[in-house]
Amino acid sequence: MDLQLTETQEMIQETARSFAEKELMPAAHDTDKLGQFPRDKVKKLCNLGFFGMAVPEEFGGAGLDNLSYAIAMEEISRGCASTGVIMSVNNSLVCDPISKFGNTAQKKKFLGELAPGKVLGCFALSEPGSGSDAAGMRTTAIRDGDVYVVNGTKNWITNGKEADICVLIVHTNPEERHKGISALVVDRRESPYGIGKVEDKLGIKGSSTTSLVFENCRVPVANLLGKEGDGFKVAMSTLDGGRIGIAAQALGIARAAFEEALLYSRERQAFGKYIGDFGAIQEMLADMACDLDAARLLIWRAAVAKDAGEKFSKLSAMAKLYASEASARITHKALQIHGGYGYVKEYNAERHMRDARITEIYEGTSEIQRLVIARETLMEFGV
Ligand code: CAA
Repeated sequence: MDLQLTETQEMIQETARSFAEKELMPAAHDTDKLGQFPRDKVKKLCNLGFFGMAVPEEFGGAGLDNLSYAIAMEEISRGCASTGVIMSVNNSLVCDPISKFGNTAQKKKFLGELAPGKVLGCFALSEPGSGSDAAGMRTTAIRDGDVYVVNGTKNWITNGKEADICVLIVHTNPEERHKGISALVVDRRESPYGIGKVEDKLGIKGSSTTSLVFENCRVPVANLLGKEGDGFKVAMSTLDGGRIGIAAQALGIARAAFEEALLYSRERQAFGKYIGDFGAIQEMLADMACDLDAARLLIWRAAVAKDAGEKFSKLSAMAKLYASEASARITHKALQIHGGYGYVKEYNAERHMRDARITEIYEGTSEIQRLVIARETLMEFGV
């Protein structure tokens, strides 16, 4: 794998880094404390083209590759993890499936608004009674002439409160398990649905996580993505891509924690020397540095494979599994290096640890990533 970034990729990295340092880092503490959606930052990122990064230019996107997207996600999440997930959902869970499975009319209609960030998107798969077992969902969409009538409740929906457009996974044939599942694009302005409970979370507090309530919600049949029965594959392949974004989010959070711990170890003195001069601290810093680079290499490999049109389910599961668990280790150590100061809100260490935790859960828990990796590996070995 060529590790040399192109001029465009370097430019994206520099733009995202500078935006994170100037705009996101100074506000991240308050975004978390107040649990406030970072509306003005999101608007500025949309103007930079960061909300439809891989969408072709003809549909209003930036027309970039997935490696650029992963690089940007790392930088933005280093600045603010909440802003990172808001951006990742719009890019990989909403624009991506519409780009991949939508027809030209759907792309024009939905991507035309989503990619430049005129409206925000969300992705609704999980339900109160089904998370890891995605095919166990209950929400139905029953055809009535030229509309589907949708009934059910979706849970854990990032951007649920702010989104106008929802990629919704439903049963169009409840008799079948995954083969009866379909994907719809629901425009809340023409097919109104309810916003349920807004969750009070441990971390990523600036992003909204809600339930969505569908009660006889009428969605045009023209909004079906692909064919009836394609929905499970749409969802699974969307999550393959989404996992690269979440892995990059985990990496960005970890890098922020690492850099702050590194600086602190060069400022704080104990027993007459800087704590960074003690072997105990250096061991932690060395492990953190290795974890960061290993995570980045896995993420870039998955993104490059996606860009090359290769199969990348296992690669993105490996990237997400490793990066999210590395992020938990790194943020834990960063807090430890800060000692008592790490445990209080004056420093960022505790926020990074809280923000990192969700990356081991959403878009597939670590247990699901291991299942995907194991299944694919067994298949490769023909056993
Ligand atoms: N791409 C395309 N198709 C796929 C696929 C993939 N990556 N993975 C599986 N499929 C296909 C299979 O080929 C199979 O098709 P056929 O019947 O035609 O052969 C079909 O899907 C069913 O596959 P499985 O038998 O493997 O299905 P399963 O029920 O055993 O489930 C699973 C597999 C991997 C466990 C899956 O359910 C899964 O990924 N669960 C986790 C769900 C998840 O990540 N949820 C996160 C929600 S999003 C979120 O977090 C919200 C947010 O806002 C951030």
